[in-house]
Amino acid sequence: MLNYSVEVGDLNEPSPDPKFSGEKVGANPFPGLRPFTLSDSHLFFGREGQVDEILLKLYKNRSVTIMGYSGSGKSSLMNCGLIPVLYGGFMTETGPHWKIITIRPGTAPIENISKATVNFLVDEGRIAPEDKHIHRAIINSVLRNSSQGLIELSKYLQTYTHENIFFLVDQFEELFRFKHADTENADEALAYVNLMLRAVAQREVPVYLAFNMRSDFIGECAAFPGLTQLINASNYLVPQMSREQKRMAIEGPVAVGGGRISPRLIKRLLSDIGDNQDQLPILQHALMRTWDYWVANREPGEPMDIRHYNAVGRIGQALSLHANEAFDELNTQERHIAEILFKTLTEKNTEGLEMRRPARISDVAELTQATDDQVIAVVEQFRKPGRSFLMPGMQVDLKPTTQVELSHESLMRIWTRLSAWVEEEYESAQMYRRVSDAAAMYQ
Ligand SMILES: Nc1ncnc2c1ncn2[C@@H]1O[C@H](COP(=O)(O)OP(=O)(O)OP(=O)(O)O)[C@@H](O)[C@H]1O
Ligand SMILES: [Mg+2]
Repeated sequence: MLNYSVEVGDLNEPSPDPKFSGEKVGANPFPGLRPFTLSDSHLFFGREGQVDEILLKLYKNRSVTIMGYSGSGKSSLMNCGLIPVLYGGFMTETGPHWKIITIRPGTAPIENISKATVNFLVDEGRIAPEDKHIHRAIINSVLRNSSQGLIELSKYLQTYTHENIFFLVDQFEELFRFKHADTENADEALAYVNLMLRAVAQREVPVYLAFNMRSDFIGECAAFPGLTQLINASNYLVPQMSREQKRMAIEGPVAVGGGRISPRLIKRLLSDIGDNQDQLPILQHALMRTWDYWVANREPGEPMDIRHYNAVGRIGQALSLHANEAFDELNTQERHIAEILFKTLTEKNTEGLEMRRPARISDVAELTQATDDQVIAVVEQFRKPGRSFLMPGMQVDLKPTTQVELSHESLMRIWTRLSAWVEEEYESAQMYRRVSDAAAMYQ
């Protein structure tokens, strides 16, 4: 239950709009911390015109690398900007038909290409769900046996000769964490990059690739021969949204959701986010919360206004208060599970870069010595409607094998409790490294 102090808004500003009946208010149109997905495209605003430039680069080079800092909106821009345009038959010189597969390196880069492809083929009805395992094994061996593997796979995916195959590699920076996690992983990371390089270098099969990558990892690319050239040839740095674009990103979804927002709240939001690096995730979260509070507490005809925004803790605190609220509802054992869960899902590497780290429910259960169901109950607490701290979203049923992850890394920076846990883990990892380095010196 919300129990925050309510402050009075700017008293000398215009009063709320009395003409608004509020009868047609729909579901919450703000995704919160998670990226926009293809099905949210009607709620996506503020990036108009940017897709043309990306399309042009993709057309010329068969690949494009979308770069930007953490939370700059790369995944959302591809999901709701580029993909709908490709499906809509634009880029006509290359033919209107596209098969689009989104992949992520995660903790098993090549295996994850097979997994995503098989799921795609099941959705298309070309593979029966019960045959998934055998197809995954076959695709895996095709990809591992030769650097031509992605081209072979693309040929198999095509239902006719000129059909375009597009792989969107989201969170490409995960490959670097994978590479450093284990000495044997370096070979797989190299093979993964080679599969991609070979696929874009040929013209026999129309394979297109896009990489979404956090710009703070750019230096890591130099370790892969050919990758830097590919990125240099075609990259797109996601621009920070202008004040006007941010205004559209606030007003657009409110209008689509059948709501109304007061001009003074828009002004307040725009000034409160300022130049914060995490401005998009914190803005989204504050809007999601304000919308829910407004729906539950509005007066007849009242638009979303400053009092609703103040009630959820404003941009500065809304996220931390909201996450603490979810944590405080847990019992002692669940709090223990939550702490280990969040420590498992986060990481600060030796360079001090923070990253989310997906983990399976069953792995967290093992670490916490709890049952899968107990872990699932805690995860549900942080991903239920109105709380978007963890993914996958509510459309996916949680099973022991489901991978869970933070909806966005900004949670590590803004939720004070989590940021303290991350620091604690980092310190103990540093301490462990120092002790093992010292032990090695005396051997
Ligand atoms: N055009 C937009 N308007 C409003 N909010 C947006 C927009 N694009 C992204 N966001 C929000 O910003 C946050 C970050 O978005 P997204 O995950 O797409 O960024 P990213 O650059 O891919 O992040 P990461 O570096 O973690 O991969 C999310 O909360 C998302 O809902
Ligand atoms: Mg992303």
